[in-house]
Amino acid sequence: MRTNFNLFTMKKNILSFSIPLFTFLVIILLASCTKEVERLPFQADELFTAEEKVVLAKKLDVDKFNYIRNVTAEEQYKVFLGRVLFYDNQMSADKSVSCESCHKQELAFADNVAFSRGVSGNHTDRNSIALASFSSFEGHYGEGDPTDVAANSLFWDGRVDNVSAQLSETFANPNEMGMKLHELGARVGDLDYAKLLYDKAFPGQNLTSANVIAAIAAFVGQIESLNSTFDKGLNASFFEVEESFAEFSDAQNNGKQLFLTNCASCHAFSLSESFRHQFGNNDQLASNGLDVAYEDKGLGRHTSLVKDNGIFKIPGVRNVELTAPYMHDGRFESLEEVVDFYSENIQAHPNLSDKLKDENGDPIRMNFTDTEKADLVAFLNALTGSTHMESDLATPFK
Ligand code: HEC
Ligand code: HEC
Repeated sequence: MRTNFNLFTMKKNILSFSIPLFTFLVIILLASCTKEVERLPFQADELFTAEEKVVLAKKLDVDKFNYIRNVTAEEQYKVFLGRVLFYDNQMSADKSVSCESCHKQELAFADNVAFSRGVSGNHTDRNSIALASFSSFEGHYGEGDPTDVAANSLFWDGRVDNVSAQLSETFANPNEMGMKLHELGARVGDLDYAKLLYDKAFPGQNLTSANVIAAIAAFVGQIESLNSTFDKGLNASFFEVEESFAEFSDAQNNGKQLFLTNCASCHAFSLSESFRHQFGNNDQLASNGLDVAYEDKGLGRHTSLVKDNGIFKIPGVRNVELTAPYMHDGRFESLEEVVDFYSENIQAHPNLSDKLKDENGDPIRMNFTDTEKADLVAFLNALTGSTHMESDLATPFK
């Protein structure tokens, strides 16, 4: 159970109550969360025997396994294994790339080039997607209401609806990891440190690709990004996003208003899950009119339907300061270019979202002034969190 999400979803029901009662309920909630979770000892010393530590210590910094997130004991070993495999080049066909090659922690788990290099020197044909662009990866993709299909569109065209399916594609993709799926288990078996962690995570089970994928999914699910200036303002204002935030400069507050008016109808859900519903947006995909004719047809490339051409995932904008270049093809180098595009350049693609059309059906011209553009960028920069940099998400290799 994620405390931050409960706070967000409680907001609607609780606001009419007094602040002391709110605080009281939060304390009760925290207490009940703590009870539910079986915690492992905090020190790596107690997690592994001396012999196990010798095996692990050949490659891994065992002391880095000392931060325990809010997950059950069984889950914790899975997360450890997933973390090792996420950072391990050995898991790709030519042993030259890992997930981290294209999803770098310091870049909110995105990459800083339009197209990333995968195995055999091949390049991806789309921009890497930041894994820390929502407050919680698992909260956004995993833990939500399973009937809420809107929250389950992975990849730039939303073609898969869960992380395991996404990982199977990523491993098999000849431009990314280039692996045969059935080889994943054997590859883990070849690495004594990974095999040791596997046996802890899946005691008595054969080496299967499904388990390997489940472990990596468990690690990716732990990625979250909170503690941005925006979060501080949001918490202090009791989740009233429309209010001016004392933590913000005038420029950031002005940028927030511009964002709420012009952008939140699509991008609100990266601010928090509850805002997605609050702003009445259940779309996970849309066309924002980058082109009149798209070279990469987006969802249309997957479905071959004309009505899906130019439709792409609406990306999360948390940490967007760190994730340049932007859009599915990395066409914009800076947030200033992105804002210029929305201000003056939205194209009249036949599938352009109604949210970006004026009353005549033409592309909206937001026509921001230079100050407004700067304010919008100042607001976007205030969405940069710090918790994605925590040590338990970092490489465990020496
Ligand atoms: C060679 C670069 C590369 C490697 C290696 C790579 N990825 Fe990716 N990743 C990408 C690109 C590019 C996309 C977007 C692809 C698309 O939309 O078609 C992506 C998309 C994703 C997504 C979807 C995110 C979303 O919000 O839709 C996840 C999750 C992900 N990768 C995790 C991983 C994990 C875990 C690994 C290691 C097993 C990995 N990736 C390895 C480049 C890479
Ligand atoms: C109709 C929905 C919609 C609205 C409204 C909208 N966007 Fe977007 N936004 C998208 C889609 C879809 C994409 C991805 C398009 C692509 O790559 O082809 C995107 C991409 C972006 C990106 C790139 C993120 C990345 O990781 O590459 C940024 C930044 C962004 N939008 C900011 C804004 C801002 C600022 C506004 C308001 C001025 C705004 N958006 C309004 C749908 C929307």
